[in-house]
Amino acid sequence: MSQFSSSLLLRNVGALVTCDPTLGAGPVGLVRDAAVLCVGDRIEYAGPAAHLPRVLGEEPLTLDLDGCLVTPGLIDCHTHLVFAGERIDDFQGRLAGDSYTQIAARGGGILSTVRATRAASDDDLMALATARIEAATAQGITTIEVKSGYGLSTPDELRILEVIRRLSRQALPDLVATFMGAHTFPAEARVDAAARADYVEEIVREMLPAVATRKLARFCDVFIDTGAFTLEEGRRVLSQARTLGLGLKVHAEQISQTDAAVLAAELGAISAEHLEHISEAGLEAMARAGTVAVLLPGAALFLRDELARAERFRAHGIPMAVSTDHNPGTSPTSNLLLMAQLQVLAGGMTLDEAILAVTWNAARALDLHEDRGALRRGMRADLALFRCRDPRELIYRFGDSHCTGIVKDGAYHRVESARPWLLTRGS
Ligand code: NIG
Ligand code: FE
Repeated sequence: MSQFSSSLLLRNVGALVTCDPTLGAGPVGLVRDAAVLCVGDRIEYAGPAAHLPRVLGEEPLTLDLDGCLVTPGLIDCHTHLVFAGERIDDFQGRLAGDSYTQIAARGGGILSTVRATRAASDDDLMALATARIEAATAQGITTIEVKSGYGLSTPDELRILEVIRRLSRQALPDLVATFMGAHTFPAEARVDAAARADYVEEIVREMLPAVATRKLARFCDVFIDTGAFTLEEGRRVLSQARTLGLGLKVHAEQISQTDAAVLAAELGAISAEHLEHISEAGLEAMARAGTVAVLLPGAALFLRDELARAERFRAHGIPMAVSTDHNPGTSPTSNLLLMAQLQVLAGGMTLDEAILAVTWNAARALDLHEDRGALRRGMRADLALFRCRDPRELIYRFGDSHCTGIVKDGAYHRVESARPWLLTRGS
């Protein structure tokens, strides 16, 4: 990617998705024949080209979009992208009918990723994650949430969070760190009930205070499900995280119905994620509490489970985000728009909902919606540029990437594989 920075004017924007219905047509706030002016890292103007204010002072760097599409920078609000080792044998075994237990018995499953991640150096983890982040950036993603959770000991979890902090200093997208020491139980904690209880106490008494003191994460996530943490264990971890000032997220109702979504709502979690098996009580609780639903169709498809149905969340007025869940076991992909396409094609989501799910509602799932996820004056100048004429093409042309570049904090970065836009000085 190449970079140009200064005041930046995007002119000849054929379709501008503002994600603010007060600024344009329909739920995505669509403006035709638009312009966007960025000053510093903020949006100064986003709207009809005819109303673009006169630019005073130095001529802005100007991109001619040739009638194409601009959206807010895409936001991938749920990933586990710091890991070593692949799980291709697990994948092949599962396709041949192997159960989770058979896969674990021959050394596969999530604990095999924990072994590979613990054995990898910091630099190896950095290099692996950097490649994944670059692949995401090239698709128009400007913010990525990244969870720990393949360390599962105090030093290993803190090390992964330190790697995320280092990555965030050098990556183009903003990274939002989430602590997930409660991803599963490490082998050492699986010997008996006392070891299991000890691991929960280690999270509560050692990991969380260290994470909070060192400000290594903004959120804490717990996988509450059959084979993972119980509701009571989840409550213990999440309550401590909340006391220490972390926001809460929950992997809920993925494998079975546990009412983890009810707990997420009760504890004031910002989001509950997966939700394929959510109960009506869970939906009602989320609707009452304003919890964002993060749908992860890639993981459901990969595990050959039913996708969470958008109609159920829509009926309760629950905001829906969509994310990759990028991880080696259940969703080895960085293709966020493909996830939105899957949720539309197989999960009952509308085109407008899908676009909002990877922008505005993804920002809400990270509590960043006052800063990004929509294009209006004062918001962060994070944009995605696509060689499309109509926002619906983002879903219609499925499987391919049409991103030609991003604007991050007001600076333009071209996707190298894309044909360049005409770049001039002045309007
Ligand atoms: O989000 N549900 C739990 N965690 C991941 C899977 C992690 C793994 O299998 O490595 C998920 O699907
Ligand atoms: Fe996940």
